Amino acid sequence: MTSTPLRDRPAWKALEKHYEEIRGVHLRDLFADDPARGERLVAEGAGLYLDFSKNRITDETIRLLLQLAEESGLAERTEAMFRGDRINVSENRSVLHVALRMPKGSALVVDGVDVVATVHEVLDRMASFADRVRSGEWKGHTGKPIRNIVNIGIGGSDLGPVMAYEALRHYTRRDLTFRFVSNVDSTDFAEATQDLAADETLFIVSSKTFTTLETMTNAHTARAWALAALGDEAAIAKHFVAVSTNAEEVTTFGIDTNNMFGFWDWVGGRYSMDSAIGLSTMLAIGSDAFHELLAGFHAMDEHFRTTPLERNLPALMGLLSVWYADFFGAQTSGVMPYSHYLKRFPAYLQQLTMESNGKHVTLDGRAVDYETGAVYWGEPGTNGQHSFYQLIHQGTKLIPVDLIGFGKTLNPIRDHHDILMSNVFAQAEALAFGKTEEEVRAEGTAEDVVPHRVFEGNRPTNVILAEKLTPHTLGALVALYEHSVFAQGTVWGINSFDQWGVELGKVLATRIIPELESKSEPELAHDSSTNALIRRYRALR
Ligand code: F6P
Repeated sequence: MTSTPLRDRPAWKALEKHYEEIRGVHLRDLFADDPARGERLVAEGAGLYLDFSKNRITDETIRLLLQLAEESGLAERTEAMFRGDRINVSENRSVLHVALRMPKGSALVVDGVDVVATVHEVLDRMASFADRVRSGEWKGHTGKPIRNIVNIGIGGSDLGPVMAYEALRHYTRRDLTFRFVSNVDSTDFAEATQDLAADETLFIVSSKTFTTLETMTNAHTARAWALAALGDEAAIAKHFVAVSTNAEEVTTFGIDTNNMFGFWDWVGGRYSMDSAIGLSTMLAIGSDAFHELLAGFHAMDEHFRTTPLERNLPALMGLLSVWYADFFGAQTSGVMPYSHYLKRFPAYLQQLTMESNGKHVTLDGRAVDYETGAVYWGEPGTNGQHSFYQLIHQGTKLIPVDLIGFGKTLNPIRDHHDILMSNVFAQAEALAFGKTEEEVRAEGTAEDVVPHRVFEGNRPTNVILAEKLTPHTLGALVALYEHSVFAQGTVWGINSFDQWGVELGKVLATRIIPELESKSEPELAHDSSTNALIRRYRALR
């Protein structure tokens, strides 16, 4: 990998110059000059079709971005990740989520251990457990089968499971109820359990570390809730399982390690939905469908690892993100799935992208002098169109947007799907081409209203299309973003796999808890604002 600082790489310097030429060029002209652009600037892989023609780029931009990827060592770093090198340097860990979806029978030996074999051992245990629960063979304490599954976890131990459950709802067992408790706000637990019978409920305590305050608080509350209803410690074994890397803490909590599904320190929390953290997903869709999900991930992994960068979906998307963040100064990026099932996908992506690339120093600890990860946000189309798209179309900010759509709906009703998809194409078209003053005038618009009805256009989009939302498609889609994040992080030379930025708040909260709970007036030694807020809270509570 290169050690040349990013701004000193020849491709970066060339891109700076090139940007000056491109910044004033309109997508209208790019399309007018090259009528085949919409068929040319596309790429396909793992069942996904990416149209990136409506980006503010020329062939020269792509050439320079690809050169930047090369100068940044993307190919070498990709190989290093897939090989199991310890590329997460600040935690001295390998980054091997790609091993979670390697097919049975393949091998990846890291530090003398075939990690693929260990992955499949756990997958097989998960499958046999899921089969027992789904068939009713696994009985609760009173002999009743399990009807409700509550996943307790937060961050990567929640967002993946909840997103996948919603995304794949069509494929789930409708006679089983799934709930997800993440927030330490007691409301989350109370509302999730208020209509559940404890003797038919299984809790999955999902936590990589098994020390996360929110999750452990909720897990202890769940334990008390179950015991209050079932009245017997022996019930815990039937109603609690754990997903974790920390067998010791799982045992301390009181869950038998026979009922624990493990994973490894080389799986980052936000990269873990396809590990045992996906147990709720497997319970919902069954182990065969879960394996299809893994196959989708793997197909995209292979695409990313083996496809030349100019046709490589994650690499192209990652490089375009760098282009907008660093040259156009775009601060945010929208992801709008035109599938109601993907309603939690933007929230999932927020952790994946922002916890990964929200970094201000390079791998060797130098402060960056360029922009890194954008703020990701989004809502399912078409709902977003009727709330915030106004700002994307006519506001003063440049917001690159990914629009995700499917050829077939899982719920064919009248012409809903054509209407939905017409909006994908219309939005991308409107954002790119806009509407000129002349066009507005030609419609007979009153002169004083003309400026208000002008659409500047030149707003970039990626359109991602797949045939149908299946477990396989979802896996490919998630892996697409995982590797896009990786490509961005590689160019920026940052560590996309640690998350030290979440630590300080955790430590301070742990100090403040006793100050809030203390019976006597605590001595407060914070700043004047924090002291006053704590006093006000104590008076209000
Ligand atoms: O605080 C951030 C974080 O560490 C995330 O990276 C992680 O996904 C989440 O907390 C939950 O951690 P755990 O699975 O260890 O409970």
